[in-house]
Amino acid sequence: MKNEKSKYQLILLLLLLIFIIPSNSHAQKFENLVLTPPMGWNSWNYFACNVNEELIKKTVDVIVSSGLKDAGYIYINIDDCWHGKRDSLGFIHPNQERFPSGMKALSDYVHSKGLKLGIYSCAGSKTCAGYPGSRGHEYQDAITYASWGIDYLKYDWCNTENLNAIGAYTTMRDAIYSAGRPIVFSICEWGVSKPWEWGRNIGHLWRTTGDITAHFDSVVNHGTWSSFGVMQIIDKQDGLRVFAGPGHWNDPDMLEVGNGMSYSEDRAHFSMWCMLAAPLIAGNDISTMSKETVEILTNKEAIAVNQDSLGIQGYKYSKKNDLEIWFKPLSKDEWAVCFLNRRKTTENIDFLWENNSITDSFSKRDANFSKTVYTIRNLWTKKNIGTTAKSFTTQIESHDVVFLKLTPIKRK
Ligand code: GLA
Repeated sequence: MKNEKSKYQLILLLLLLIFIIPSNSHAQKFENLVLTPPMGWNSWNYFACNVNEELIKKTVDVIVSSGLKDAGYIYINIDDCWHGKRDSLGFIHPNQERFPSGMKALSDYVHSKGLKLGIYSCAGSKTCAGYPGSRGHEYQDAITYASWGIDYLKYDWCNTENLNAIGAYTTMRDAIYSAGRPIVFSICEWGVSKPWEWGRNIGHLWRTTGDITAHFDSVVNHGTWSSFGVMQIIDKQDGLRVFAGPGHWNDPDMLEVGNGMSYSEDRAHFSMWCMLAAPLIAGNDISTMSKETVEILTNKEAIAVNQDSLGIQGYKYSKKNDLEIWFKPLSKDEWAVCFLNRRKTTENIDFLWENNSITDSFSKRDANFSKTVYTIRNLWTKKNIGTTAKSFTTQIESHDVVFLKLTPIKRK
């Protein structure tokens, strides 16, 4: 049996060398994937290295039963630490104790529920948690993932001494293309060499920052590296919207909703990820999440802002006393507007639409409130709250948002 298996792997390796590697001269990324920001779940933010097939299957079941699947969360992504060892021919295998049924059986399970399976590797010799990385095994790993039925690969940047990021990510892109299975390629290089400038033809999304942490407004120092609160991550998105669009997204990291911030902080975090057209990859324990967490993650009207077909990332229109106003153009001449209160105190808003002319030179769209009146929909209370003909006055709690959608009704 073992002999049979290694014979099979040897044949695969030969095929790889003869046909696949030389045939990639026209390699490219798979197009027509994630034309709206990817949505799903990833194990890292809550479970870190504690991953196994039972957890993934349980998560899949609750993604379906809680309504997350219906809301659009499709990719179930296993992050670091699933790895076992490479065999004598260099093929990677999952850790047998954690994934006794193997990855193909797991992807069959995930696919049978109408979902997709993602996996994690690293461009370096080892992953960030010290497991085998893909360096020198890119084509073997890509063909292995394809044979397992993997749909999404997050590709990290630890232990990459002397590697060039563009080269390393291009090699993996080519390997994925050659393996022939459309796999979403998620570049996780933390923004170090400005992946937004080169990532568009290589991957489908690229991390713009170091790791997120479940804090609203602070940096956590881990000695050799730091992780960032939601506000710090948002500030690092300045100037990046021009690089994003359908099939190529800025990735400000996975969601921390349900991981310890307050309800309003979670809601603000989620709303801003919708405004940023960011991937919505939940990072909490789905099987024990509260009603409030489900309510945030499945707010379909908020998600519709994120998933709008134009795929235009929102922008900060103004900032005063840590009260920010963000605008995002939507299809059908609609707009999303998000008032973000970063302060520790409640703030009053008195916003006279007519005094504000919204001109977005990047998307070439504008909202001229003295010419066009819009109805206003509050996306958290899910109520229509009047029109832009009158000034908008409300209170906004500390670390919270007022998240609105504007729909044009009449031209004056
Ligand atoms: C890096 C990534 C994280 C996570 C860990 C896993 O820190 O940025 O998102 O994948 O590695 O070790």
